[in-house]
Amino acid sequence: MSAVTISTLARMKREGEKIAVLTVYDYSFAAAVDAAGVDVALVGDSLGNVVQGQASTLPVSLDDMVYHCRCVSRGLDRALLVGDLPFMTYQVNAETAMRSAGRLMQEGGAQVVKLEGGVVMADTVRFLVERGVPVCGHVGLTPQSVNQLGGYRVQGRDEASAARVREDALALQQAGASLIVLEAVPASLAASLSEELTIPTIGIGAGPDCDGQVLVLYDMLGLYPHPSPKFCTDFLAGKGSVAAALKAYVDEVKAGAFPTAEHSY
Ligand code: KIV
Repeated sequence: MSAVTISTLARMKREGEKIAVLTVYDYSFAAAVDAAGVDVALVGDSLGNVVQGQASTLPVSLDDMVYHCRCVSRGLDRALLVGDLPFMTYQVNAETAMRSAGRLMQEGGAQVVKLEGGVVMADTVRFLVERGVPVCGHVGLTPQSVNQLGGYRVQGRDEASAARVREDALALQQAGASLIVLEAVPASLAASLSEELTIPTIGIGAGPDCDGQVLVLYDMLGLYPHPSPKFCTDFLAGKGSVAAALKAYVDEVKAGAFPTAEHSY
């Protein structure tokens, strides 16, 4: 059982093996997610919603992210640890982004950092990658921009918006990103981007044809006390244990059985 690296993910894309990703925020769930065979453990700033009870991810601090990354890193043997850069820790300039990424990696044990935004973040992504920081991009619905987007809305529905999502994704690849999250975009757009890009795409609300899938752990276990988005399923229902639910998720993602058209836009 060798540890997953960004090269593993590149190989999985080339060979058509689906990549199973889950968010995780603490040691015990990290160990469970790792044991279930999840390839990438994402310490998402969604912890602002599901752990802290905030209305958005905007209040999450870099100290919060470092703390949760550190907890998660102790629970992983195999999965690659990706940590989110929170709002205002990378947008101002590339130097700030480098310092923030450095903290997530040095203090938190993150192996890859994730940031939101496409064309506008491309120079920063290049700056990080050239200095040894692997980057995961995130385009489509970018929750840190919820106020700019006017809510948590599907992106890329019309031609102009789909073209913007495509430009964003291509700019990130061009800048050296190792993988890219596509959130809440039509399945047809995600399918064509997954075909066009050479780096792996990880979908959430982006249909079945991405190279991998990610869900928020507390959503897919039915723990978050608010209605789940259409693209999520309660994997714990009827399974009897968290371990069985996580295993079912990994098996369904790997088999291409989750998500289906019913979870897609
Ligand atoms: O913060 C997060 O959990 C994320 C995923 C939803 C992709 O960015």
